[in-house]
Amino acid sequence: MRQLDLAIVLAAGEGTRMKSKLPKVLHEIAGRPMVDHVLSAIAALHAQEVRVVVGASRELVEAHLQSTFPDAKLVLQEQRNGTGHAVQVALEGAPEIGTVLILAGDTPLLTAPTLQEFFDVHTGLGVDASVLSAEVPDPFGYGRIVRDEAGELSAIVEERDADPLQKEIDEINTGVYLFDIAALRSALAGLKSGNSAGEIYLTDVFALLKAAGQSATAIQSQDYTETLGANDRSQLADCAAIMRDRINDAHMRSGVSIIDPFTTWIDLGVEIASDVTIYPGSALSGATKVESGAIIGPRTTLQSVAVGAGASIIESRVTDSTIGAQALVGPFAFIRPGTTLAAGAKVGAYVEVKNSSIGEGSKVPHLSYVGDATIGSGTNIGAATIFVNYDGVDKHETTIGNDVRIGSDTMLIAPVTVGDGAYTAAGSVITEDVPAGSMGVARAKQRNVLGWVLRKRAGSRSAESARKAGATDGADKVQGEA
Ligand code: UD1
Ligand code: MG
Repeated sequence: MRQLDLAIVLAAGEGTRMKSKLPKVLHEIAGRPMVDHVLSAIAALHAQEVRVVVGASRELVEAHLQSTFPDAKLVLQEQRNGTGHAVQVALEGAPEIGTVLILAGDTPLLTAPTLQEFFDVHTGLGVDASVLSAEVPDPFGYGRIVRDEAGELSAIVEERDADPLQKEIDEINTGVYLFDIAALRSALAGLKSGNSAGEIYLTDVFALLKAAGQSATAIQSQDYTETLGANDRSQLADCAAIMRDRINDAHMRSGVSIIDPFTTWIDLGVEIASDVTIYPGSALSGATKVESGAIIGPRTTLQSVAVGAGASIIESRVTDSTIGAQALVGPFAFIRPGTTLAAGAKVGAYVEVKNSSIGEGSKVPHLSYVGDATIGSGTNIGAATIFVNYDGVDKHETTIGNDVRIGSDTMLIAPVTVGDGAYTAAGSVITEDVPAGSMGVARAKQRNVLGWVLRKRAGSRSAESARKAGATDGADKVQGEA
């Protein structure tokens, strides 16, 4: 079987239509730059050599590719004179004979099976050049496949050079090509920039090859959605939605319940076990891994989170953290990097946690901030407790033991330690360590100034209600003073 000698990815364009500081091919879909999707798809074809043409913002593209696809050879196209020029540059020093696959860095939905089939059909036909075409509902902006009376490919005409009849053609050039390298080289030598863009178009090679009596064909792709290009943000969103559906379908087929696939965004690389349920409006990205039986959402964002079996994360945002089996998070929790919840732990409503570990079965149920803390097992943190970790200059740590009861509205001024089995009184400002088994109390004792309202707010509704309840003005009597 014939093999693929060379693959060229065109990624040097300015991407002006994106109106972005970021080069077009680095715009992301499903958590990965478009060019990565393209390179992943061609990896399966095992080309002898892969070349990526870079130019606009090349430092950014090069730095990225060196980390993700270090084997790809980067070729610099100093001046962007069009796709034909990009290929001329890419062929310098490349093999003289063999088969080359050329595709653009902005068609992120192409899959390996489609490219393989294209290669197999091209090879089977034994032609010098093939373009992958597709019939699309809206051909605007694409190069059109012009066929002769016999239905054979005669030329590819760009949108801006097409006449009104050609604009009616809905079979488009997907920007994916296979060429005999020698035939391509000779045709490229004859390319001119006599079009309305003043660029050297790769697409013009087809008419040249035909004129020279060489064989060139358009091979139609079965699934046009794979061939869509993303030149602007609107097309990027269209491509992202198709990728989202693909990813969600694959998870659903492997046993994940996704209640509303339209509002569930799962990046490539996220691992989800069967019998996980994902409610609407959720986004899972990065190195996120969810174990069986977990419930995610609604409206939950997980960025690189390990979620244990049977855990629930509801209406919350979690980043770079570990949520143990059967743990409960939310609604409305904000869990920041470096946090670990052990099995059965709970972080409830309006709680923020950062860089902390919360032990097995421990609970932070309501309205609290936990930062730089280690909390043992079986401990309860009362509502509205604040771990005061920042003195305005440095961050400090708090250690809470096992089976501790922190009273509501405690301020734990770090660094501070509360020993196993200790309590703190509600409303305390704890600045000193609390030994195991002790009750830490740090607040002013209460006084009741009897009749104060009747004297100071005479005639008010409060005073009237107090009088009905039997209060008297009680002449400066204070309860609770020594
Ligand atoms: C191109 C095709 C069009 C096809 C469409 C499919 C040409 C002339 N037109 O149009 O027929 O329907 O793709 O998506 O080829 N690039 C370079 N150097 C350059 C110019 C472009 O590397 O000098 C790269 C771009 O970064 C991009 C790719 O080539 O990845 C295609 O260029 P783009 O400007 O997106 O062409 P389209 O207008 O989409
Ligand atoms: Mg394009």
